[in-house]
Amino acid sequence: MTDQGRDPIISFARTQKDPLDSCRMEAPGPLALVVFGASGDLTKRKIVPAIYRLEKLGLLPEDYFVLGVARSGMTDQEFRSFMKKSVKESLPNVFTKEGWAEFEGRLYYQPLDYGEAEAYGRLKKRLEDIEGKHATEGKRIFYLAVPPSVYAPSILHLSGAGLAEEDKGYTRIVIEKPFGHDLESSRSLNATLAKGFKEHQVFRMDHYLAKETVQNILMFRFANSIFEPLWNSRYVDHVQITVAESLGVEHRAGYYERSGVLRDMFQNHIFQLLALTAMEPPSSFEADSIRDEKVKVFRSVRPFDLERLEEAVVVGQYGQGALDGAVEDAYRDETDVTGNSTTPTYCAMKVHVDNWRWNGVPFYLRSGKRLRHRMAEIAVFFREPPHQMFDSMLGDRIEPNVLVLRIQPDEGVNLNFQTKQPGSRICLTPVEMDFSYEDAFSLEAYERILLDCMAGERLLFVRKDGVDATWGLLSPVIERLEERARPQDFPNYAAGSQGPDAALAMMVRDSRGWRKI
Ligand code: BG6
Repeated sequence: MTDQGRDPIISFARTQKDPLDSCRMEAPGPLALVVFGASGDLTKRKIVPAIYRLEKLGLLPEDYFVLGVARSGMTDQEFRSFMKKSVKESLPNVFTKEGWAEFEGRLYYQPLDYGEAEAYGRLKKRLEDIEGKHATEGKRIFYLAVPPSVYAPSILHLSGAGLAEEDKGYTRIVIEKPFGHDLESSRSLNATLAKGFKEHQVFRMDHYLAKETVQNILMFRFANSIFEPLWNSRYVDHVQITVAESLGVEHRAGYYERSGVLRDMFQNHIFQLLALTAMEPPSSFEADSIRDEKVKVFRSVRPFDLERLEEAVVVGQYGQGALDGAVEDAYRDETDVTGNSTTPTYCAMKVHVDNWRWNGVPFYLRSGKRLRHRMAEIAVFFREPPHQMFDSMLGDRIEPNVLVLRIQPDEGVNLNFQTKQPGSRICLTPVEMDFSYEDAFSLEAYERILLDCMAGERLLFVRKDGVDATWGLLSPVIERLEERARPQDFPNYAAGSQGPDAALAMMVRDSRGWRKI
């Protein structure tokens, strides 16, 4: 049974045996990857495991190395042991003793106080020394996996030490999210970057763009001719974009308390999904053609009416509840969360894209933590047939067609439609055409992101005007919500539920219903 409680009757297999095999990227050229924040969580859980797996898959060049940089005093050997433990834990089926022995010689470590200008001179010297051993041709990627407060000093000191220059090879800088806290801080971060780096050197991360299923939105829409003619207000009633998580804030409450779901998920991931769903066909598959079209969507989003915000935006925070047979704590009971916190862990919003294609079609966006299931999808609800000739015979309303792009888990595409149930009476049965990727994925989002950055491919990264546009839309909303937030209004949904009642009510007011989480 599917989430929506129906048996899929028709399913489609992939027509090619292993399409990924013929779509593999070439290994990029030599390079030095310098990771700031090397003693942190992201480096050990995502970045180094991603590099290790790429190496195992033979997707990295012969000449490359990783230089970890952080405040902690560590030797190269200590850093290697620290990484070995986490790669082993993260990739139990990929890690091998022999593989690690070959790999670890590529890992180096340099302690650095991010705010100390002279330390960057020492970093430069160390980098040049190691480059001497690995023939990386002056190609450098600086990956900032550090807290946002460290971005500005790191960027300024890197350029101050001459490390932003592109003398021989290339120099790229990868900035993790969050990219700013609001419009002003994101502009200021862009201005800081522009002092030393050119826009072509800047790679702003959004790991959702690296998910195969998210990239598939473009292929699905623009490599098939049968869907695009229907992709507009004439045929589409509304669109629902959902990113639901069953996890809570885990150990990240220190960051999350200051961020909340709008900054954490909407300004980036959810708005990127909206743009890919709503954008016009780009003239080519070049990164800038696509990024131009995405920005046009952001610019067409109707600004929120701040005086009547509650009609279009519902926020929530999880309380204690049962999930998968266990009792989960309320958000306010998580470590590092204040007892009267008003930080939203859930948001549902109604967005209008005011352009020719989408006039009058609402996009309902929602995301939250500690919901019933982990599930991310884009569901396009089509209009009912213009003339309901079966109504009198069947009594009930006929369910509209819904096309669902399933982003995770159970990645695939699904379309439901009506068929006649065999028999002498006129009865309709909804059936589903279902395409599932099953386990076809070979690359994780971080692996893909790193490879693309190494190859200088910008499609998966967000351009300056894209970040400005999404902050421009959401900053006033976040500010207004924060001004109005009252501790007594939270928690307003139980862990393990579908979210707050007010989100349900928002849909009921529009005579629509959410898909089940
Ligand atoms: C991150 C957010 O960007 O995305 C997290 O900071 C969230 O709060 C995560 O859990 C979700 O990513 P994924 O790939 O697990 O859906």
